[in-house]
This record gives sequence, C-alpha cells and structure tokens, in this order.
Amino acid sequence: MTHAVRPAGDPPDRPDALLVIGQGYVGLPLAMAAVEAGFTVVGFDTDDGRVKRLEAGTSFVDDVSDETLGRALATGRYRPTTEDALCAGFDVAVIDVPTPLHDGQPHLAHVEAAAAMVARHLRPGATVVLESTTYPGTTEELVRPILEEGSGLLAGEDFFLGYSPERIDPGNVTWDLKSTPKVVSGIDAASLSAVAAFYGRLVDTTVPVSGTREAELTKLLENTFRHVNVALVNELAMFAGELGIDIWEAIDAASTKPFGYMRFTPGPGVGGHCLPVDPSYLSWKVRRSLGRSFRFVELANDVNAHMPDYVVGRLVTAFNRQGRAVRGSRVLILGLAYKKNTGDAREAPGTVIVDHLVALGAEVRVADPHLADLEGVDVVELNEAELTTADAVIVVTDHDCFDYDLVRRHARLVLDTRNRLDGPNVERL
Ligand SMILES: NC(=O)c1ccc[n+]([C@@H]2O[C@H](COP(=O)([O-])OP(=O)(O)OC[C@H]3O[C@@H](n4cnc5c(N)ncnc54)[C@H](O)[C@@H]3O)[C@@H](O)[C@H]2O)c1
Repeated sequence: MTHAVRPAGDPPDRPDALLVIGQGYVGLPLAMAAVEAGFTVVGFDTDDGRVKRLEAGTSFVDDVSDETLGRALATGRYRPTTEDALCAGFDVAVIDVPTPLHDGQPHLAHVEAAAAMVARHLRPGATVVLESTTYPGTTEELVRPILEEGSGLLAGEDFFLGYSPERIDPGNVTWDLKSTPKVVSGIDAASLSAVAAFYGRLVDTTVPVSGTREAELTKLLENTFRHVNVALVNELAMFAGELGIDIWEAIDAASTKPFGYMRFTPGPGVGGHCLPVDPSYLSWKVRRSLGRSFRFVELANDVNAHMPDYVVGRLVTAFNRQGRAVRGSRVLILGLAYKKNTGDAREAPGTVIVDHLVALGAEVRVADPHLADLEGVDVVELNEAELTTADAVIVVTDHDCFDYDLVRRHARLVLDTRNRLDGPNVERL
C-alpha cells in the first residue's frame, strides 16, 4: 500500500461539496438540510428506482416533502445519482446505508460497499463520517482500513474520519435534524473538529465525545434503553390484563411523577429499522468480544417479539367469548406502519399479526392511508361499510388521521393496542 506523504492539515474552512451515500430515511433529510445550508450535494444511492423518483421530485420519506425536494433540485446544488463517477470531488462524505441483521448477526456489507466507493474518490483533506447505526468499533476496525486501502491515504494524517449517530425521529414534529443535538466524534482531535465543524453548519447543537466507540455506543444505548423499557411495559400489560388491572391508568398515574420516571406505553410489538435491530448489534458485540450474553437485550427481544402473538391470542379469546372462530371471520387492521403518522412498514409488527390471522383462516383487510402500496394485503379505506362488515377491528397503529369516532360507532368489536378508544365494544391491550 502506498501512502500519500501530504498531511491533511486543517480541514477546509468552508467545505462545500458533500457526498451522502444512501438516500433513505436518514440520508435524504441530511442531503436536504445541507443544500439549505449552502452545500453542493451529491446523493448517491444504488437503488435506481429511488433515484429516479428523487430526480422527478417525488419524496418517499415522510419528513421530506415534495416541496422541499423540489426546492433543493431547483437550486441546482442537489444531484441524486446512481453513478459512481459523479461522487468524485467531495469535501465531506457521509455514509447513511442500512445496517440490518442477517440471521441475527450484524450485516455490514452495505457499509463496506459504501466505504469502498468513498475510498475510490477520497482526496487529502476530506472528511468521512459514518452515520449508520452499528456496533462500537465499526468506524475504526471496519471502515478505516477499507478507506485507507482503497485510497492509499492514511486516516488522521491525510483525511479526517469520524462517527456521528443519527437521531432522526420520523413523524416527530417537535424535534428535527436541526434542533436535535448531534453527537459527534473523530478518530483523533483533528477529525473530531472537522466532523464538529461540518455538523455545526447543519444543527443547532453538537455534542462532542472523546472517541468513535463512545459515539457508536451512544446510539445503541439510546435504542436499547427504549427497547428494554417498551418490553417492560409490554410484559406488565400482559400481566395486568390477566390480573384485571388497567395498565393504562397505572401508566398515566405514574407519569405524574415529576422525576425518576419516564413514560413508555405498551403496544403490538416493536418495528422499524431501529428497535428490532440495533440492540442486537450491541449484544452481538458483547458476545463476540467478551463471550457473555447481554441478558437485558435478549429478554427484551423475547418479550417484544411475542407481542404480535399475544395480540392475536387476545382476539381469539374475545371471539371465543362470542362463540365464534377466527376462521372465516373478517378482521380490519387499522394502521400497519410500525409508527404512527408515518408510512414506514419495515419490520412492522402489524404484518406479523396479519400473517398469523391469515394463517388462522381470517379474511384480513388493512386501512392505512400512510402506506401507498402494500404487497399481499387487501388495502381498503376506513369507512362505515368496512367497519360494519368486519367481525373485529384491531387498532395496530393509531395514526391521527383515523376517524376514531366512526370506529367507536360502527365497529362490532375493537381490540385497541394503543389505548386510543373506549366504550362497550372496545377491548384494550
Ligand atoms: N430510519 C430511522 O429512523 C433511523 C434513525 C437513526 C439511524 N438510522 C440508521 O441509519 C442507517 C440508514 O437507515 P435508513 O432508515 O436511512 O435506511 P433506508 O433503507 O431508508 O436507506 C438506505 C439507503 O441506502 C441505499 N444503499 C444501500 N447500499 C448502498 C450503497 N452501497 N451505496 C449507496 N446506497 C446504498 C439503499 O438503496 C437505501 O436507499 C441505518 O444504519 C439505520 O439503522 C435510521
């Protein structure tokens, strides 16, 4: 391997060319914010269909409106592309590609491919940031060698390298990319200051931490904390149900405590790209490096993964009380996205509920105005006819756009997993 002898020196005072690899839920909002802050942005993605939609001004990310995308395209400073050659010439490259699990193990092939692509175009003085959620050590142990070998440059000497976890919360209207503090890190002090300077132009507050591992762990800590607490209330909800105690009232009451308590609510299970995945990156790392099991994560996985089964079991019991079977019944699912007011159905527990009900012989229909196309399910509008012809309605995701009064008035039986409804025809989780 040959190394450039030129030290990186200081990062450019005002880096202007940004390359964002991955134009999904995380990469696209970042690209939009950077265009607004004055950067020239290349948004590279391997998904041709996605790039074509972006070029046509159609956003598939809830938090980025077509208007925002159109504005960015109109500046002439945003270029979505699948072309490797257009990625050259960046001052800063940010990697926002998926980090899924395959057979329960971290699958970092997308990060590796993105890093290899960045390496081909890396120039002295540039800054590379990994934002994808991953286990501690990825930036330095996986990304760094790929960048160095592919470019012939040395991290810390020729280019800057860091990690900054993304905290974007789709559908959250209070906290956005700009107002949410951004944790930043680098492999050394110069890299930290390059990474902090870049994000300082996009967000109100940067939070520096001393190393990339600490920044990587920060993201996993945040999501594992949520995962474990959601599992806690889910398990409590199942016990409270059997004990005849109203869990929702207890949660409301506990939430009046002004200190030492944080509100989490039960539901039909966890979904999306984060909670079902990220804690397992941490437990995998603990097992691989220390040979120990991260029991909290494993227990939370177990409880949360069981929730769709539990919901179906509750419907079976409710039908049983009425002397009817699931086989041959019609069930209307309200909301299939994993999160309210979003159109993201990745790893959504609602799809597991649908599959179980179909396997039991039910005719399942789904109403979710946030989801444009759903393969393999009958998508219907929520209206009086759908409600009156359904034997049961399950509120899986409580989008604000649903007419809950209509549901209350016309549904024969409602199984509400979100505490959105009450009434004699409503059974809550
Ligand atoms: N969605 C969230 O709310 C959220 C929040 C915080 C962190 N994250 C993390 O951010 C990362 C990205 O998540 P996302 O939700 O944006 O995923 P996404 O699937 O919405 O987008 C990722 C994009 O990367 C593209 N891609 C895959 N391999 C590529 C490659 N080699 N080169 C270029 N593009 C490639 C895909 O085609 C896709 O469009 C993940 O690690 C995720 O865990 C997600």
